[in-house]
Amino acid sequence: MTGTLTPVATEALEIEGLAVEVDGTRILDGVDLRVPRGEVHALMGPNGSGKSTLAYTVLGHPKYRVVAGDCRWGGISLLAQTPDERARRGLFLSLQYPTAIPGVSVVNFLRAALKAHGRDLPARELLMTLRRELEALKMDSAFLSRYINDGFSGGEKKRMEIVQLAVLRPALAILDETDSGLDVDALRTVAEGVNRVRGADMGILIITHYQRILDYVTPDRVHVMAAGRVIASGGRELVDRIEREGYDRLLQAAGLEPSRLEGAGSAASA
Ligand SMILES: Nc1ncnc2c1ncn2[C@@H]1O[C@H](COP(=O)(O)OP(=O)(O)O)[C@@H](O)[C@H]1O
Ligand SMILES: [Mg+2]
Repeated sequence: MTGTLTPVATEALEIEGLAVEVDGTRILDGVDLRVPRGEVHALMGPNGSGKSTLAYTVLGHPKYRVVAGDCRWGGISLLAQTPDERARRGLFLSLQYPTAIPGVSVVNFLRAALKAHGRDLPARELLMTLRRELEALKMDSAFLSRYINDGFSGGEKKRMEIVQLAVLRPALAILDETDSGLDVDALRTVAEGVNRVRGADMGILIITHYQRILDYVTPDRVHVMAAGRVIASGGRELVDRIEREGYDRLLQAAGLEPSRLEGAGSAASA
C-alpha cells in the first residue's frame, strides 16, 4: 500500500543559494530551502525578511529578478518557466493581498484555474467538492455565484484560498500570511481547512509572521528567514522557541542585528 506513495513523495521544491533583486535592490541573499511534496512546512520571520519576495519569486512574478542560485521543482529549474507553466506543473500561490476580479464568479474562477493547472473536473464532481468544502468552512453556497474577492471580508478571502486548494489539489501550495487579520474562529476554520487538504499528494509552505496558526496546524518542519536568507530550520520546537524568545536570539546567533521593528517582543531578557 505505502509503496504507491513513494514516487510522489520524492518530488520537492528545492531552492539553492537563491539571490533576488527588486528594482535594483538585493532582497534575497542566498536562500536555501527544501519542501517535499506531502509535507507541511512553515516559513517564519520578522517583517521585511523577504518571505513574500521568496513566494513571488518561486511563482515567477516578473518584478523579481533572480541574480544567483536556482529554484527547482521535481529536479527541473523553474527559472526559465512562465508563471503559467509553473502553475501547470502544480505550483500554487495564495497572495497576502488577493485582488478582486469583478465579473468573474467564484465557480467560474475555479473552472478557469483548474484549466490553467492543466486539469479537468466534471462539473458534477466540481460542484460536489465545492458543496462539501463550503459546508466544512461554514459558508453559504450563495458564495459560489459571488464575484471573486469582490467585497469579500478578510475571513472570506482566506476561506476562498482553502476552497481553491481543495478543488485544485496543487502539488505545492504556498500560503502567504493566510492567518493575517483573522479572528480566532476564522483562524481555526482556516487551519482546519489546511489540515483537511494536507496529504501525500500536496506540499504546503505556510508563510507566517506569527505562530498562531501553527497552534492548530502542526508543521513537519519550520524555517526562519531573516535578512533575505534562511537562518534556522528545525521542528515544531522552533515555533515554541520563537513564541518564548521572539526572533532576536535567533538573529543574534546568525550574526544579525536585533530587529528594531519587532518592538518589545523579545525584551524578556531575564
Ligand atoms: N520595490 C521594492 N524596492 C526595494 N525594496 C523593496 C521593494 N519591495 C519590497 N522591498 C523590500 O524587501 C524586503 C522584503 O520584503 P517582503 O518580501 O515583503 O518581506 P516579508 O514578507 O518577510 O515581510 C523589505 O525590506 C521591503 O522593504
Ligand atoms: Mg510578507
